[in-house]
Amino acid sequence: MKVLGLFGSPRRGGNTEILLEEALKGAEKEGAKVERLYLSDFTITPCKECHGCDPTGNCVILDDMQKIYPKLTEADVVILASPIFFYGVTAWAKAMIDRTQPLWVRKYLLKDPSLGEGGKRRKGFFISVGATKGLKVFDGAVLTVKYFFDVLNAEYMGELVFRGVEAKGDILKHPEALQQAFEAGRRLVSNLTKGR
Ligand SMILES: Cc1cc2nc3c(=O)[nH]c(=O)nc-3n(C[C@H](O)[C@H](O)[C@H](O)COP(=O)(O)O)c2cc1C
Repeated sequence: MKVLGLFGSPRRGGNTEILLEEALKGAEKEGAKVERLYLSDFTITPCKECHGCDPTGNCVILDDMQKIYPKLTEADVVILASPIFFYGVTAWAKAMIDRTQPLWVRKYLLKDPSLGEGGKRRKGFFISVGATKGLKVFDGAVLTVKYFFDVLNAEYMGELVFRGVEAKGDILKHPEALQQAFEAGRRLVSNLTKGR
């Protein structure tokens, strides 16, 4: 069982990194093989809407995203963590998501069976934090992430989101949040193992 953790914050050691790390530890506890990708370490050119992927389902931009595509398709579980930046995910996370347009092409235009009904079913989970306490603070990001997971043939298993968390490491003041993240990672793997 492969779990892919996508770290969407450029702030290393920050709140979403701490939470995702807990979730991945939970997944490892259940025996999953975990891979961590810190998106801000990669050069991910934003999608140029060139439609170069339309005929083949492969992106024509030859940057670090080419290393990420196989990680996405090999994963059984994808956990994306991103803080809220201007009511959405970070630019790193969004650039990566937009660059999965070739997978959208494979799934919906080319009808690639591997991303269709009979293809590999994945699970997706979202972790986020925001500084403010607004009711709708996570709505935009959740919608974006749901459509990202749809393209990956990943069932949206839910999200863990925390409001009112701003300074680096502030989430450590909420040990129950860390526990919830650990449990979420553990549950994602144990449910999938049981379902096999
Ligand atoms: C550019 C930028 C935009 C932000 N926009 C929002 C926002 O729209 N709503 C919000 O609640 N917090 C916003 N924040 C605050 C971050 O979500 C918050 O500090 C979070 O804890 C950062 O997580 P990290 O430590 O994982 O990077 C923003 C922060 C930055 C740097």
